[in-house]
Amino acid sequence: MSRIQRFSIGNPINTEAVVQNLPKEKGDFGYFTRIQDVELKSDENSQETMIQKDYLLYRMDEKDRIYGLGENVRGINKRGWIYESNCTDDPYHMETKHSLYGAHNFFVVSGKETFGAFLDYPGKLVLDMGYERMDEIRITPEDWNLDLYIIEADSILEIVKAFRQLIGRSYIPPKWAFGFGQSRWGYQNEGDIRAVVKGYRDNGIPLDSVYLDIDYMEGFKDFTVNEERFPDFPKFVEEMKQEHIHLVPIIDAGVKIEEGYEVYEEGVKQGHFCKDQAGKEFVGAVWPGKVHFPDVLDKKARKWFGGKYKVLMDQGIEGFWNDMNEPAIFYSQKNLEKVMKEIKSIKNDNMDMWDVFAFKDLVNGLANNPEDYKSFYHNMDGTRICHDKVHNLYGFGMTRAAGEAFEELEPEKRILIFSRSSYIGMHRYGGIWMGDNQSWWQHLLLNLKMLPSLNMCGFLYTGADLGGFGGDVTEDLLLRWTALGIFTPLMRNHSALGTREQECYQFTRIETFRRLIGIRYGLMPYLYSEYMKAALRDEMLFVPLAFAYPDDEHAKAVEDQLLLGESIMIAPVYTQNALGRYVYLPEPMKLVRLKSMDQIETEVLGQGHYYIEIALDEVVFFIRPEKIVPYTQPGQYMGDCQEKELKLLDFVSKTAEYELYQDDGYGKDYGNSSHITKVCV
Ligand code: GLC
Repeated sequence: MSRIQRFSIGNPINTEAVVQNLPKEKGDFGYFTRIQDVELKSDENSQETMIQKDYLLYRMDEKDRIYGLGENVRGINKRGWIYESNCTDDPYHMETKHSLYGAHNFFVVSGKETFGAFLDYPGKLVLDMGYERMDEIRITPEDWNLDLYIIEADSILEIVKAFRQLIGRSYIPPKWAFGFGQSRWGYQNEGDIRAVVKGYRDNGIPLDSVYLDIDYMEGFKDFTVNEERFPDFPKFVEEMKQEHIHLVPIIDAGVKIEEGYEVYEEGVKQGHFCKDQAGKEFVGAVWPGKVHFPDVLDKKARKWFGGKYKVLMDQGIEGFWNDMNEPAIFYSQKNLEKVMKEIKSIKNDNMDMWDVFAFKDLVNGLANNPEDYKSFYHNMDGTRICHDKVHNLYGFGMTRAAGEAFEELEPEKRILIFSRSSYIGMHRYGGIWMGDNQSWWQHLLLNLKMLPSLNMCGFLYTGADLGGFGGDVTEDLLLRWTALGIFTPLMRNHSALGTREQECYQFTRIETFRRLIGIRYGLMPYLYSEYMKAALRDEMLFVPLAFAYPDDEHAKAVEDQLLLGESIMIAPVYTQNALGRYVYLPEPMKLVRLKSMDQIETEVLGQGHYYIEIALDEVVFFIRPEKIVPYTQPGQYMGDCQEKELKLLDFVSKTAEYELYQDDGYGKDYGNSSHITKVCV
């Protein structure tokens, strides 16, 4: 049994994050108390200043844990840091940061009292999870207009399920989008793409998609294709389809300001762009140079922008990724002018250190400047709203524009869409990728830790840039990261312009890459079934051990292993030069060691702590008691595995059943019970 209470404070903006309209409770704030007081703070000169405080307080017990907050830095247990919901384009995902690209204000406190809390608030929200004081949660919105949902149930998993029902069913991509994808910022033309496909096919490494980054566009203009680089784009898309490759183009939030560019001219004429204080189109700058931002929070503008995806769909495209939609602003016209003036005022022949620092700060402060976010407006249902009040909804709006358009243009077909920025609610329209990570070992671990937190917030179709986006990857990092990627719904290798070439065939251990990615395809009957069941039943795909073994103190502390679906536990290697890693088994499990789908060894282990050796060319996972894992032989692409014989791995003492989910991978009749077959041991 679960119970959800809604506490409405002030006059909240309707974000459409939730799909149930719950009555408003009167009075208090559930488990929280609103604290309004003044604190005196003294500086190093003993000067005292008064600080106004106004926040929601929850006092924690010594052993309370906090889970959730979606895409974020730090641990699975979020206690002990201060987070800010403020969607930000920042490629350095370090533990000192407070925000990444998404705003996912749902968390569960587990301990003395166990409950879930969702703060439906689209502006900047500070979530102090035991930073100012180790025993206090302090939540501070910028203004007091928000909906607070408190969710109670018998277990964390049930709380999460009740929350997921509140926010609606998660997005389901086409099945080919579970195949392996190769991406890189810098593929310039048809020739580059053909070379990638050839690199994979010639080496027998499975591949289902190649991503087109901004270089495919004409002058970085959305919904255009550079005709010199792609002289006959529809024909090329078709040629790739013949090779069983889906091309997935990027779409950016900013629309280039350029006379004669249809999207720009139409948007201005029909009033679809965000406006400044004076009612003129706001000018920011991103990859194309100066741009306007479509007002995706306005229904009409959203429909207009969404309709533009048709231009590429008409040329055979079946999937997209939405980028730069925090929205990222490299600079705004207005702020650039201001900064140039200030720089002139400090410029002299004898600039001292402080002048130089001031100069540096001025230049660095040009990008994603909070003042810019305060200087443009949206039209939400006829009301003019300043962007900073709804900042966290922009990526949601953009992806919703696409999702709503797909629904209209292709009602029977699944279209792939994932976004960089997001807010809860967007999970119904698309997935997300984890943004511009780095080729760092710690980002492999961060990738793992974000999975369950994202699942809690409804985001099931997700994954990180395998190998890391920024920086030069090493072969061992790519091997280990690929071994984790086998299990993430989005499995895409992506890297930045100017970094080391990162396609699997560029390295020496091509045979190992072939086998590792083959394991992904081989395990697809299990991985796809578990994804579909999690989506259709509002459940998590990746579950922290703490949720499944709530009475096991060791399990509760584990931050680097996850349950994946009902049958398995994963424990990837995430340190360089490691021979293997320590693993905790909360119950007896069957270790499965794979070099390929033909070379499988198993060993039954009792409950306890182990050091498990895992070589660079191996994947290890563990089967839980009385559970089954269906698998098959890999093919070179998703459709190629379909027909192959189904086999079973199991850790079953007498008999057990597994619900296998199968469908055509394209249609939307997911609910049909004929998609589930029971397989037995
Ligand atoms: C952004 C995206 C990245 C992309 C780049 C160029 O940084 O996050 O994935 O490659 O822009 O479009």
